[in-house]
Amino acid sequence: MLDVYDILRQPAVYGTLGVFVVATFLDLLRRRKERFLMASPVDLKHQSIELPGEERVHVSALTPDRNFIEYMHEDARTVYQAFLRGKAVNGDADCMGSCTDKGSVDWISYNEVYESAKEIGSGLIHLGLKPKSEALIGIYAQNRLEWGLFEVGCITYSLVNVPLYDTLGPDVCSYIINQGDISIVVCDTTKRISAVLEKASSSPSLKIIIGMLPKEITPEIKQEAQDANVQIFTLQELRELGKKHMQDPSPPEKDDMYTVCYTSGTTGNPKGAMLTHANIIAAGAGLQKACYPALTFIPDQCHISYLPLAHMYERLNVLMMLMHGGKIAFYRGDVKVIIDDVKMARPSGFCSVPRLLNRVHDKVMQGVNGTNWIKKTIFNMGMKSKMADLEKGICRNNTIWDKLAFKKIQAVLGGNLEVVFSGAAPLSPEVISFLRCVLGVPVLEGYGQTESAVISTLTLPGDHTTGQVGPPLPCCEIKLIDVPEMEYYAKENKGEICFRGANVFKGYLNNPEKTKEALDDEEWLHSGDIGMWLPNGTLKIIDRRKNIFKLAQGEYLAPEKIETVYSSCSLVQQIWIYGDSLQSYAVAIGAVNPETLPALASKMGVKGSLEELCKNEQIKKGVLDDLMKIGKEAGLKAFEQAKYIHLYPGTFEIDNGLMTPTQKLKRVDLRKFFVKELKEMYPDTM
Ligand SMILES: *[C@@H]1O[C@H](CO)[C@@H](O)[C@H](O)[C@H]1NC(C)=O
Ligand SMILES: *[C@@H]1O[C@H](CO)[C@@H](O)[C@H](O)[C@H]1NC(C)=O
Ligand SMILES: *[C@@H]1O[C@H](CO)[C@@H](O)[C@H](O)[C@H]1NC(C)=O
Repeated sequence: MLDVYDILRQPAVYGTLGVFVVATFLDLLRRRKERFLMASPVDLKHQSIELPGEERVHVSALTPDRNFIEYMHEDARTVYQAFLRGKAVNGDADCMGSCTDKGSVDWISYNEVYESAKEIGSGLIHLGLKPKSEALIGIYAQNRLEWGLFEVGCITYSLVNVPLYDTLGPDVCSYIINQGDISIVVCDTTKRISAVLEKASSSPSLKIIIGMLPKEITPEIKQEAQDANVQIFTLQELRELGKKHMQDPSPPEKDDMYTVCYTSGTTGNPKGAMLTHANIIAAGAGLQKACYPALTFIPDQCHISYLPLAHMYERLNVLMMLMHGGKIAFYRGDVKVIIDDVKMARPSGFCSVPRLLNRVHDKVMQGVNGTNWIKKTIFNMGMKSKMADLEKGICRNNTIWDKLAFKKIQAVLGGNLEVVFSGAAPLSPEVISFLRCVLGVPVLEGYGQTESAVISTLTLPGDHTTGQVGPPLPCCEIKLIDVPEMEYYAKENKGEICFRGANVFKGYLNNPEKTKEALDDEEWLHSGDIGMWLPNGTLKIIDRRKNIFKLAQGEYLAPEKIETVYSSCSLVQQIWIYGDSLQSYAVAIGAVNPETLPALASKMGVKGSLEELCKNEQIKKGVLDDLMKIGKEAGLKAFEQAKYIHLYPGTFEIDNGLMTPTQKLKRVDLRKFFVKELKEMYPDTM
């Protein structure tokens, strides 16, 4: 008979027991880990749903029946109501503050913000703006507490603010003032006041400038204003006026205009996107719902405001804080020391753009590179472990590696982070993964446009993969449309991205033509970006719809591609390619290189000034031959090669209106500028 001990001595039993113990242990470990799996709002394998029909419209898996959400809180359907909601939740708590040189934030409460805002709004009305008239008011300032006060002041009386910003330049600011019939512009610095005054004579509607900062209103600037016949007030004076002539609030309705946000394109004047309260509230609700339950917006959360308030991205960030009783710390105005401001504010969410996040990545990596091998090894082991966790869907900041390797880096961003948002441009997969590992919090990438209240898709919490911008937000629907000239087809899940929903704007201010280009008859907003649906319903941005001409014989021409090829020709400094759709060939206008053209001339035995050389047929042919050769080598098709060239002795500049501040050719303006030359090259049509 076997006794118990004999049984235990059997190898098979040992094996079974051993396997059981190990399995139990592994299961416990797995369950422990599972506690750290981030909650996702939807099944990550099916993040969006394709609706039946030819159009292949995609909607969030949260809204399969197109039951899109328009708002999050019944009592916050406008930005004004959202502010009141925050105030009701957290009235005496900090609302807005300024980062200071003392190393702390000077806060004021919701109730104080409201009092100031009413004074400001009443003051503006006393100065002639009609409440509820949707009158536009210009704000030309960096992010600062006063900006926030004006924002609340405007919405309390249904006034509409229009941000102006430096890169627009004085001419464009003046254009906007005219287009919006703006009578009051609020500025911070002497320089900005001066820039507005400089063009006052061509902005007849401008009557008043309000200076946010008393010390910036110098005697000289006062004189300048007087000469330009513009009244100037300090913020203090405005508030005194408001106090004396206090008005009851005139709150906006949900479909009233909230802001006009100007975006500068590569062609022509900037366009003012009109966004309603309902638009931005919908975008915020979509964002909030897509983040729930992993991330919630609750009172006392802090946001550091340094991305320009002239863009919708930052306006949305501010709204999200106000609506939930959170607080907004305004940076000191110098991006070079933004990290110090972040440390003071200790934000719970860090909203950023790739440019800055790349810098964080590079700085940390340089630091790691410079330390001793022990620290480097610990850092690398930490990264490896965190990467492995990410692949399992785990992202957290309380592992042993956080204590050993990442604590200091987390402290740089205030040590209080719950989430990082990135938008405006694609963030590289490397940097996303780096941030997720090192910070141990979700890094979410949003995608959208000013015209869709800045956000239409978001990578979901819990999805720690890269290379996609997430599914549509539950406030809108998205479809891709064919772009045959670039060989993208919706049936292959590729095409130009179009949005529709409560967050999509109503049109461009006084610009029905551009509105029609952006919004089609069925209210789809055409983005110009090319996207692709991934199998799990997320969107990937793969290209940009190019500037394309169709020639008479039906061939498509992408001028940017040809220009890039021709740019290696040393005889021209800049080149512009144009194709008329009634003709079968493309033409070029080249800004010649004064250093190299004379050499070609002397080789050909041609003499004369630069202007004369430009007009010389032999020289033109010389340059064109060189371009042809380069084009042929680069594989341009025959119809892509320019048939004629005009040589221009000057250059295309921002100053002569032929380039944008971002160094892109302004094609429409070039066409106007060279209308005579084009006519010579296209004798039959132009
Ligand atoms: C780290 O150092 C190596 C070799 O010294 C260098 O190749 C690498 O570019 C450095 N990385 C960073 C991020 O500075
Ligand atoms: C770690 O994450 C938690 C929860 O997301 C957050 O509240 C906390 O501030 C984070 N800690 C640091 C040091 O970032
Ligand atoms: C979604 O699909 C893409 C492409 O197939 C894949 O790389 C990614 O890992 C998937 N995401 C998730 C969360 O499974």
